[in-house]
Amino acid sequence: MRGDLERVLFDEPAIHRRLDDLAALISNDYRDRDLTVIAVLHGSLMFVADLLRRIPLPLKLECLSVASYHGKTQTSGEVIFKRATVSPSGGERILLPDVVGRDVLILDDILDSGHTLAAVRDTLETVRPRSIRMCVLLSKKKQRAREVLADYVGFEIEDEFVVGYGLDFRGRYRNLSYVGVLRKELLEQPDK
Ligand code: IMP
Ligand code: MG
Repeated sequence: MRGDLERVLFDEPAIHRRLDDLAALISNDYRDRDLTVIAVLHGSLMFVADLLRRIPLPLKLECLSVASYHGKTQTSGEVIFKRATVSPSGGERILLPDVVGRDVLILDDILDSGHTLAAVRDTLETVRPRSIRMCVLLSKKKQRAREVLADYVGFEIEDEFVVGYGLDFRGRYRNLSYVGVLRKELLEQPDK
């Protein structure tokens, strides 16, 4: 898999050092609060696991499964919540965690167009948490389609397609322990 990368941006020690900083900030900001962390799956898996083990607070963890990419590298703008139920009337309902009155911290892998985090934030607002903040491992420096401000950012990166440490291309590369830029020609190959 390493050969599929143009270059490595953040190796494992660099990621872990940055997680130490983020965890210290979050631990301080949320001491004496009722914190619920909402992990946006699948991309945030590694990030959540490594970050939360550095936060010594009695937090709760919930997961939301969201898709917006459908195997392409450009977002479609449509955000699908995969943890949905069908109500008796036949309509689809998203099963949301109970966060009434709690302080919510949404964790995601990367902030790109902003569609995903804006949709997650707007959806969670409907269940009346006390506060909502957002934390991402990576934030792309670009004009966003939706206005989203991440309160905690691991690293700012250029507008390039990256994989590893949870981030995928067509479901692959999530298990790399580092983050790197995928070779451009691989992005253009037909899906197998
Ligand atoms: P947004 O909705 O465009 O902000 O994109 C958010 C989601 O798209 C992330 O949670 C990722 O799953 C995916 N994504 C955006 N940029 C990248 C990338 O460079 N590599 C891999 N996945 C990405
Ligand atoms: Mg993805």
